[in-house]
Amino acid sequence: MSTIFPKWTNNLPTLLAGGAVGTLAVVVGVVWYYFTPEYWSVGYMPTQPGGGFNHQIHVGKLGMDCRYCHTNVEKSAEANVPTVSTCYGCHADGRLAKLTSSQGHAEKTAFIREAYAKDEPIEWRRVHKVPDYVRNFPHHAHVNAGVSCYSCHGNIGRMPVVYQAKSLSMSWCLDCHRNPEPHLVAKDDVYRLFDVEDRNAADPSGSGKRLTEGKRFYEERKIAAPENCGACHY
Ligand code: HEC
Ligand code: HEC
Ligand code: HEC
Ligand code: HEC
Ligand code: HEC
Repeated sequence: MSTIFPKWTNNLPTLLAGGAVGTLAVVVGVVWYYFTPEYWSVGYMPTQPGGGFNHQIHVGKLGMDCRYCHTNVEKSAEANVPTVSTCYGCHADGRLAKLTSSQGHAEKTAFIREAYAKDEPIEWRRVHKVPDYVRNFPHHAHVNAGVSCYSCHGNIGRMPVVYQAKSLSMSWCLDCHRNPEPHLVAKDDVYRLFDVEDRNAADPSGSGKRLTEGKRFYEERKIAAPENCGACHY
């Protein structure tokens, strides 16, 4: 005999309840993932090819300027990574081994000479990346407005391997855009790595000179950081 409600439908309420819980879990998961990403990629640190590149040695110890390698930061939106020939300029042979106490210098830098000989780029793995629905992030606008590399990338000069120091979330961008002034330094200080928000670190003499210059720079430039959606989204 056929029934309108076959036997299995007895379980239907349970199944529906289970489904609802499942759906709810997915919704919670999605909201969790997309709306609270504040810290989800902080600390991201991919393994780099060959002997890698050590900012602690080149910036922290040797005192090299960011612009020696990231040549475009003040001119274009993109902060480029250097080509092999930039490295080759110093690492054309293993001779620097004489200058360093570090073991195996020639071996650690061999990947540079190999890439150069083959005329191939070193495939550095990208650390910082905003999602594709965010417009091309403009480095030049920030750097020229007195926003320090430190504010967005942390103390690179102490990083043997680069990691993501800040969340790069939308609220992080907007927190600064709403009130950029305390984050600004004088133009020359953009590349010096000191904690901009910490007055003592910023200016050991305590005169506040650097920060005053940052403020003056702010007023002179009539800086206006955008908060409208279209400035950052398509
Ligand atoms: C001698 C060359 C050199 C100098 C000088 C240098 N860098 Fe780099 N930088 C590199 C290379 C090569 C990479 C790519 C490999 C890596 O990520 O470690 C890189 C990567 C980075 C990244 C991560 C890029 C990404 O993939 O998201 C940041 C941020 C950065 N550098 C900031 C700085 C800052 C700030 C300074 C100055 C205080 C500086 N660098 C000085 C060569 C250099
Ligand atoms: C201005 C010269 C100069 C440039 C340009 C330069 N380096 Fe170096 N590099 C050095 C010196 C000097 C040392 C040794 C420093 C020490 O150990 O005290 C070194 C050390 C190294 C080491 C060994 C690190 C270790 O753990 O002992 C690697 C790997 C390296 N460099 C990679 C690179 C790469 C990749 C680039 C290009 C993005 C580059 N260097 C650009 C001068 C340079
Ligand atoms: C206002 C914040 C901010 C400042 C200031 C800033 N950066 Fe960045 N940087 C970012 C963001 C965001 C990204 C990821 C951009 C993207 O995905 O298009 C990034 C990416 C990079 C990259 C990777 C580019 C690539 O194509 O692989 C390098 C290198 C870099 N920054 C270097 C620097 C240097 C050097 C300075 C200082 C002169 C600096 N940044 C200042 C926020 C900043
Ligand atoms: C620490 C402060 C700070 C942070 C963090 C910051 N910005 Fe900005 N941003 C500024 C300032 C200051 C300006 C104004 C520049 C000017 O007026 O010349 C600006 C300007 C801009 C502009 C307009 C550029 C132009 O050509 O006028 C864009 C787009 C922008 N920011 C995007 C971003 C995005 C996207 C993020 C996050 C990934 C971000 N910013 C994070 C300080 C910051
Ligand atoms: C200063 C730059 C900036 C402005 C202005 C801005 N956004 Fe964003 N927005 C971002 C960045 C960067 C992300 C990526 C965040 C991430 O990777 O987690 C983002 C992400 C988002 C997302 C994805 C969900 C999320 O929170 O991650 C939505 C939706 C969004 N923005 C809507 C808006 C709307 C609507 C406005 C205008 C009221 C706006 N944005 C203004 C930079 C901006």
